[in-house]
Amino acid sequence: MYTRAHPYPEADESFLWHRDRGPDAFVNIMVYLNGTDEHGGGTQLLDADTTEKLARAGYAYPEVADREGDLSEYAAKAGIPFEPAHFTVAPGEGFIFRPTRVLHRGQLPTRAPRHVLFINLMPSPCPWRQGYRRWTKGYMEAVAGNWTQSHMPLLAGDDGPTVIG
Ligand SMILES: [Fe+2]
Repeated sequence: MYTRAHPYPEADESFLWHRDRGPDAFVNIMVYLNGTDEHGGGTQLLDADTTEKLARAGYAYPEVADREGDLSEYAAKAGIPFEPAHFTVAPGEGFIFRPTRVLHRGQLPTRAPRHVLFINLMPSPCPWRQGYRRWTKGYMEAVAGNWTQSHMPLLAGDDGPTVIG
């Protein structure tokens, strides 16, 4: 999926701290087509240990409307510092991370549009051709957005689940 973010003063949705919905084996690959030097934007990630401590302090999977840009309050409750790293990204560089497991957010560009390719890898709960027949548009987004463990028997049908090993 190709995305373009324009400079804007107020962050929302993906530009506030969150974890994506979806299966545990969900991997997100982001490739920046232009760099921080050009647009001033980026991506911030927290490690799994910090994410878990913040979840125990009350910030786990916030709804879109409840997402926040500053988690200092939760970090203080967890007794840890809140110092997310700022990465500088060159054109062609990017990140590979597990978006259901670590808190992350985009940083809006300040000078020019930010162009990013997203490649999402996740197991399909049913044979992929069957999934595309049922949800012709946004199949994997639909799977991730509504993910529960019960998808496997629900969607597998007679063919059994797809196993990606
Ligand atoms: Fe995300």
